Amino acid sequence: MTKKSSAAAPRHVAIIMDGNGRWAAARGLPRSAGHKTGIDALRRSVKAASDFGIEYLTIYSFSTENWSRPKTEVTFLLELLRRFIRQDVAELHASGVQIKIIGARDDLEASMIAMLDDAEKLTAANSKLKLVVAFNYGSRQEILRATQAIANSVKSGALNVSDITLETIAGALDTSGIPDPDLLIRTGGEQRISNFLLWQCAYAEFVFVPEFWPDFDAAIFRRALDEYAARDRRFGGVKAQTA
Ligand code: FPP
Repeated sequence: MTKKSSAAAPRHVAIIMDGNGRWAAARGLPRSAGHKTGIDALRRSVKAASDFGIEYLTIYSFSTENWSRPKTEVTFLLELLRRFIRQDVAELHASGVQIKIIGARDDLEASMIAMLDDAEKLTAANSKLKLVVAFNYGSRQEILRATQAIANSVKSGALNVSDITLETIAGALDTSGIPDPDLLIRTGGEQRISNFLLWQCAYAEFVFVPEFWPDFDAAIFRRALDEYAARDRRFGGVKAQTA
């Protein structure tokens, strides 16, 4: 019997939306213009993912490390998320998109936390596409929080050290219950993972596209999916033999 090892359609696509600043600089515009136009690319991508039948789309919208950018840029990015939630949630809800936010929520402003909680609650029962927004997210920090939670369970006597499994760790991450990404796309030409979904991307296929994020559209998305489909995923095993 031939075991099918080609990638077919990904169930979960994760995207590092990079290149907003360079897109703006190439046009003599401020970086904020790149981020603003990036929202249009995000809207296109959500629609395309839904049309392509992708189940989970995870986007890296603000990393733990992004706090080190100039204060005006940080403020702009925070405001952009607020505006995106305010303006787009109703439409996303109407089109069956479920929203989930991952990342450290506790150190955000109370009004922001409430807004994110409300968006999640409103869309919780939707099942067309799960949009996972990584906000104030860093994968090492996520693993640290998971480790602390597991250590506390051991300390309280609820968990034995010998009962800690891979599932225990996966279940303590922000992405608990979400399948691992099959495909990670990074725009903007850089080829690195930047503290994004380190545990979860253990077997993800990586596709790096040269276009800057504000130019990302359904055609570029399709090309990345085609590249993924041509890959041979072996998960550490060997290529299936034909008899
Ligand atoms: C990377 O471009 C992009 C970001 C740090 C932010 C991504 C945010 C958006 C696309 C819009 C915001 C979306 C939400 C939901 C708030 P860069 O600034 O690092 O670009 P560069 O590498 O060219 O400098």
